[in-house]
Amino acid sequence: MSAAARKHWIAGPGAALHGDIQVPGDKSVSHRAVMLAAVADGVSHIDGFLEGEDTRATAAVFAQLGVRIEAPDAGRRIVHGVGIEGLRAPSSALDCGNAGTAMRLLAGLLAGQAFDSTLVGDASLSRRPMRRIVEPLSRMGARIDSSDGLPPLRITGGQRLHGIDYPLPVASAQVKSALLLAGLMAEGETRIREPHATRDYTERMLRAFGADIDFEPGVADLRGGQRLCATDVVVPSDFSSAAFFIVAATLVRGSELRLRRVGMNPRRTGLLRVLRAMGADIVEEAVTVAGEEPLADLVVRHAPLHGIEVPVDVVPDMIDEFPALFVAAACADGETVVRGAAELRVKESDRIATMADGLRALGVMVDETQDGATIHGGRIGTGRVRSHGDHRVAMAFAVAAQCARGDVRIADVANVATSFPGFDALARGVGFNLRHA
Ligand code: S3P
Repeated sequence: MSAAARKHWIAGPGAALHGDIQVPGDKSVSHRAVMLAAVADGVSHIDGFLEGEDTRATAAVFAQLGVRIEAPDAGRRIVHGVGIEGLRAPSSALDCGNAGTAMRLLAGLLAGQAFDSTLVGDASLSRRPMRRIVEPLSRMGARIDSSDGLPPLRITGGQRLHGIDYPLPVASAQVKSALLLAGLMAEGETRIREPHATRDYTERMLRAFGADIDFEPGVADLRGGQRLCATDVVVPSDFSSAAFFIVAATLVRGSELRLRRVGMNPRRTGLLRVLRAMGADIVEEAVTVAGEEPLADLVVRHAPLHGIEVPVDVVPDMIDEFPALFVAAACADGETVVRGAAELRVKESDRIATMADGLRALGVMVDETQDGATIHGGRIGTGRVRSHGDHRVAMAFAVAAQCARGDVRIADVANVATSFPGFDALARGVGFNLRHA
């Protein structure tokens, strides 16, 4: 049994964190790289691919759809693209595992194919809302049946899609991306307008694969009926994985950590803005660009934090970082107020509830609201918490434990492997006190 497959961690207060590390590849970029390479004409090389359960699920789906994907080394994939009309009908349901990104983006890509397909997921994914993609894809001419807005999604092939001009009701990169991928096979133009700009990896990568697309923060326009041309993709290190180390080094006295080649797409790095406003000491060095994406080394030193009101317009730029932020807020001086973050309730778990429950179990005062929480900073105590099968909640509590008064037992940590295989070993390597129960 791999370390990640074991069920519980016991984590305790640790000494100062020191090290020079690189976290694994970006999950969002890895999913998209495989998807676009699979339907491009020609052979694409992906370097820095995340070897997580979520992204491997996406690669396995394309193997079922007849795409040859070689894995010469960990973190590398060679994808033999079959062209936009070259996917083959699968002989069984396509399993997206825990990955919302896989299911939603695949629904867009499969909606205009000639064959029928069914997308399924694990228990957590089976509770996540899909109406947000089914409704606009249906407007484009797709036929998708869900179970009352939940997976599985049964997609009837052979539909002619047409572009739409769609104002997204919620800021969601997954919904935007699903519609853009469907738009590739649609007649006419697909225009997506967002209430708040979200991560633009699909737009950037479509352009890198030769698509005719215009985009600026909040709007994307794609011409239909396009083919993609193979290209090579370098995947940056995942900011969301780096976030746990950024918060840990900030909180634990005497710490200094360097995190190498972290993806710095501005639609992902809202946590840096918020932590700096709380007093964090985070320096960007070796700023560069890899392919379509900005990268930097982040040097993080311990600094005392104070609570703030998180600006509502930063929320989409740090949507995956709230578990880490809740922990930072729990150790800050004063109150931190989060609003406008109702989307957290439909992630891998209800992250407002799971973080509030866990922090309360450790003696932190948290007032929950429908779209956020007020976290009253203080000291983290000892106790037992559950991740509710949510990888980011498990890692957030491993960080919390580093500045707790005593041991914290974290149940249900196997899902960390979905986004961050090897988290526990990397964390121990820089000084985390974290062991398997
Ligand atoms: C993702 C977008 C975000 C994020 C998820 C990955 C993506 O979801 O929470 O982890 O890769 O597009 P939403 O777009 O639903 O907010």
